This record gives sequence, C-alpha cells and structure tokens, in this order.
Amino acid sequence: MKHDQNYWQKRYVDHITGWDLGRASKPLKSIVDKIENKELHILIPGAGNAYEAEYLIEKGFSNITVLDIALQPLLQLKERLKNTDGIAIVQNDFFKHEGSYDLILEQTFFCALESRFRESYINKCHELLKKNGCIEGVLFDFESKTNEPPYPATKKEYTNLFQKKFDIINLDRCLISEEARQGKELIIKMKKND
Ligand SMILES: C[S@@+](CC[C@H](N)C(=O)[O-])C[C@H]1O[C@@H](n2cnc3c(N)ncnc32)[C@H](O)[C@@H]1O
Repeated sequence: MKHDQNYWQKRYVDHITGWDLGRASKPLKSIVDKIENKELHILIPGAGNAYEAEYLIEKGFSNITVLDIALQPLLQLKERLKNTDGIAIVQNDFFKHEGSYDLILEQTFFCALESRFRESYINKCHELLKKNGCIEGVLFDFESKTNEPPYPATKKEYTNLFQKKFDIINLDRCLISEEARQGKELIIKMKKND
C-alpha cells in the first residue's frame, strides 16, 4: 500500500498534519449533538487525534472506539484522556478491524485512502455496522489532482459507491463547515440497507 502505516506515522511525527483541526469540527459536533442514545456503539476510523471522541465523552457517550493505523496520534489521545472510561483506543488497519457498531463517524478518512480502496471502504463499513447502522460525517468533494491525500470524490461518485450497500439519507453541501473547508465538503448520513 502506498500510504501505509509508516507514511502516516511519519506525518504525525514530523507534524505534517494539515488536516488536524486541533478541536472537534463544527459539523461533527452538530451530528453528535443530535444523537439522543448515549449507549450507541460508535467507531471513529482513521481517527487521528480524534478530538470528536473527546467531545463524545464530554456529552456522555460511553461506547466509543477510536481506530487508527498510526500509533502517534493514539498516544497523544491517550495522554489527553488519561484513562477515561467508555473509550477503546485501537491501533489497527481499518480493513483488518473486527467489531459491530451502530454508528461510524467519518471525517477525512475516506479521502486518505487511494481511490482503488473506495469500494473496500464501503464494504468494510457495511460489515462493521449492525442492522440499521449508519455512517455519518463529512466527505470532501473539491477538485484535486495530486498524488498525495486528500483524494476527494464527486457527489455523483459518492452516490454510485454508497448506494450499492447503503440508503443515502443525506449527501448535501455542508453549510457549517470549518472556514477553510467551506464549499468543499458534503455532510452525509448513510444507512446500511440489508
Ligand atoms: C487525513 S488523516 C484524518 C485524521 C482525522 N480523521 C482528522 O480528521 O483529523 C487520515 C487518518 O487515517 C489514518 N489511516 C490511513 N489509512 C488507514 C487505515 N488503513 N486504517 C486505519 N487508519 C488509517 C491515518 O493514520 C490518519 O490518521
């Protein structure tokens, strides 16, 4: 894999982490604020520093799994959380992870994957979700032609990808993006459709 564990670990160690907001993003906070059931099993894949996990803890959620292939951000998160209950911090490849979740929170993980892994991402999310489980979060949809992440897709591409395994509840322009991301991301809710 081109962008493997070493690639991501090095980005964190070298502090080349332009995606890292340093806090939970407005769209993810707004998604979390709408969830009433604090018992939901929530997975944050490709979570990096996972500031949204801290927000979930703050809001009383107690079944959170944070997953990343790179160790560095997970060590940082552990240090910030200092043995907080209700959260599992797992270093693993998303595609090898096993579990069963009600909700997957997506933010800048899909776009970290080369396009050849997109279908696998959809299938893996489907496998990891319980019946009626959802993916919620944000996806980039701006033009990019570089050989480095992020690898955004278009709304049409997202529709084609997700509709094979999910009901598309929401795939709209995000109106509450962080300033640098305004007009560049879609807010999503995809419900597992088996
Ligand atoms: C662009 S960063 C986004 C991090 C975080 N979601 C955020 O918004 O700050 C992409 C993250 O995905 C992780 N990642 C990349 N490939 C992965 C994989 N196959 N399994 C798990 N994590 C992966 C990277 O280590 C990195 O932390």
